[in-house]
Amino acid sequence: MKVGILSGGGDAPGINAVIRAAVRKGIQEYGYGIAGIKDGWRGLIEGDFFPLDLKATSGMLPKGGSILGTSRTNPFKRRDGSKRIFENVKKQGIEAVVVIGGDDTLGVAYKLFEAGLPLVGVPKTIDNDLAGTDYTFGFQTAVSIACEALDRLHTTAEAHHRVIILEVMGRHTGWIALWAGLAGGADAILIPEKPFNVDEVCEYIRQRKRRGRSFSLVVVAEGAMPKGGKEIVYSDRVDEFGNVRLGGVGIFLAREIEKKVDIETRVVNLGHVQRGGSPIAFDRVLATRYGIAAIDLVHEGKFGRMAALRGNQIVSVPLKEVVGKRKTVDLELYEIAQVFFG
Ligand code: F6P
Repeated sequence: MKVGILSGGGDAPGINAVIRAAVRKGIQEYGYGIAGIKDGWRGLIEGDFFPLDLKATSGMLPKGGSILGTSRTNPFKRRDGSKRIFENVKKQGIEAVVVIGGDDTLGVAYKLFEAGLPLVGVPKTIDNDLAGTDYTFGFQTAVSIACEALDRLHTTAEAHHRVIILEVMGRHTGWIALWAGLAGGADAILIPEKPFNVDEVCEYIRQRKRRGRSFSLVVVAEGAMPKGGKEIVYSDRVDEFGNVRLGGVGIFLAREIEKKVDIETRVVNLGHVQRGGSPIAFDRVLATRYGIAAIDLVHEGKFGRMAALRGNQIVSVPLKEVVGKRKTVDLELYEIAQVFFG
């Protein structure tokens, strides 16, 4: 049997660990042939494949990025996109596809599965906003990077008596902001799920000043927005899934804070640093478990499903229950973080 593997959407630390695990078990235990599909759905539409063997995936466990490449190609926005996918799959003799992706990529996967393509999904996004699983791989690595950034910003903010705002990724949800903010001792955490009030943020900063704390750290998710306002974009250009490029909420906030509170404020946008480089051990293990689960699902013929983590167990859930939904932050956890605001 020949199995194709692709990764789509924004990369996340651990993609290569998923691929390595699926290839290793697929070849060693099931005797499969594995085809790497380049750059997500683009490779399937254009027939861009290469053979993946044990040698190609050896040493990949700690490597960031994706040896397959990735893209935000949407076959349903390309002329004859899905038709070409079915033609190429047939031409290559591919009988199943492992799709590593977030909501956009798995949304396409679900439509193609409904149209007759045998595939399984692996939950990938640093944002951790995918429904059906407790954690996506890559998330904890992004949190560690953001937490380390906060630790570093802490000392310089304190020395200079400044407010430092750390803008992190999180298009629709504040998972990274919340976890990093909690772990890094942020004095305010602003997330898309809870539109913020600038005056409240300023009050936290004043409150700290009154307590003799002349500096503050604020973590803001890129998709957070002021009450009654909208998300802040730095470019209106949309990708093939209709996503705008977010960015700038930190600068917006810094300007507002400096207007209202007499304190120097700086902004750091962590950006793609959160996505690049090696996965931490947790994500290497999770990604490996997902890769094994995905190839097992293929072997059992359980198509249209996604490997998922529930508690400490790897299970599988139908893609139908995953796509088009969003896992927003745990508000109980946010309440815990709020105890430390101001
Ligand atoms: O999809 C996850 C994500 O990390 C979002 O949080 C972010 O808005 C987006 O990727 C940015 O990705 P890119 O700049 O690669 O389009």
